[in-house]
Amino acid sequence: MKVLTVFASGGGSNFKAIHHSIVSGEIHGEIALLVSNNPNCGAVKYADEAGITHTIINQSRYPEKKYRDDTMLEILLGIEPDLIILAGYMKKIPDKVVNRFNKKIVNIHPALLPKFGGKGYYGMNVHQAVMNAGEEKSGATVHFVNEEYDKGSILAQEEVIIEPQDTAKSLAEKVLKIEHELYPQVIKAYCEDRIIWKNNQPKIEEVIEN
Ligand code: GAR
Repeated sequence: MKVLTVFASGGGSNFKAIHHSIVSGEIHGEIALLVSNNPNCGAVKYADEAGITHTIINQSRYPEKKYRDDTMLEILLGIEPDLIILAGYMKKIPDKVVNRFNKKIVNIHPALLPKFGGKGYYGMNVHQAVMNAGEEKSGATVHFVNEEYDKGSILAQEEVIIEPQDTAKSLAEKVLKIEHELYPQVIKAYCEDRIIWKNNQPKIEEVIEN
């Protein structure tokens, strides 16, 4: 049973999808903690309802950046999670946390990285940029987190086709829907030790059915 920590800032639909997969027995893991920067977000509300411990780390609670970052690291060291899951977390993870949890932090991004990633590309901004660029497809990417925004090794991607009638809003809905399938699958694989690193690139080992 792997120990998981989820970070989320928004509606929390990915967090819910992951939790549902745990409850149904698909994912062999337990969520030890939800970390959020936003005490009023949907993810925190869901954690309350589902009885999942949560903590708020933000500027108003910890005004000094160094203390805020150290507190985050200390909390995580107290849990020693096997995996840290960023699920719509809109803040940058401090370098000291990234370094300490190397290859143990994953993020989901609502586009086909390396396109439409980096600073400023989050949430609806991503979908608007994809639409403005006249792309024919978009999708979701799960990647490991390193010190640079959206630059860590890609672990899994799933595409969606952009139809002529799509808007940034309808694209966001389509992508979110596939995120709810893709992210639990990747986390399931992680919890079953099916993420293999070769030449510094991660790969998901598929289950061979007899
Ligand atoms: C998701 O689409 C996720 O990919 C995106 O925010 C949304 C969160 O939705 N993440 C980013 O943009 C990170 N750069 P949720 O709160 O309903 O899971």
